[in-house]
Amino acid sequence: MAHTDEEHARSHSHAHSHSHRAFDNDDDALAAIEEHHTHMLHRVTALSDALIAAVAGGDGGTAYDEHATLVAWCEDELIPHAVAEEGPLYGPARDTPEGRLLVEGMLLDHQTIIGLVEELRPAEGARAAALGLVITRAFALHLRKENELLFPYIARNPDISLAEAVAGLEEVVGQ
Ligand SMILES: [Fe+2]
Ligand SMILES: [Fe+2]
Repeated sequence: MAHTDEEHARSHSHAHSHSHRAFDNDDDALAAIEEHHTHMLHRVTALSDALIAAVAGGDGGTAYDEHATLVAWCEDELIPHAVAEEGPLYGPARDTPEGRLLVEGMLLDHQTIIGLVEELRPAEGARAAALGLVITRAFALHLRKENELLFPYIARNPDISLAEAVAGLEEVVGQ
């Protein structure tokens, strides 16, 4: 019964609230992060492609709407995801000699991507479509570095628990 109530509350919860999703081990947590990254990349790719198609087709009304949808996704999903990673995930790895420079590089990626969203917000037409594709490709590169370098490093570091770091972090592991 309590479980049902929790599910109910979760389905109505705001994007910034926590779902209390827990993991038995770091490998499971890593798999959940990768899955959420894949989901996010599919979504931003679809939104960017839709904006490009509208601009290429000369459909100004649709381009206006697709641009607004992409900006909203960046504000509601992409930036909260980056911010959520920086504390519990990037923080402990940054405090290790082996992880420090990699994490600082990843923070520069976040700053760059957030700057691109700022550029996208007032952009129109071909420039908006180009910025949408740049954000999509920059995010794809960034998440490869997280999936293949940073998060596996955290998972195999015995002093840092990836499972504990992401428990309940809906913005990082999904619901
Ligand atoms: Fe990130
Ligand atoms: Fe990420």
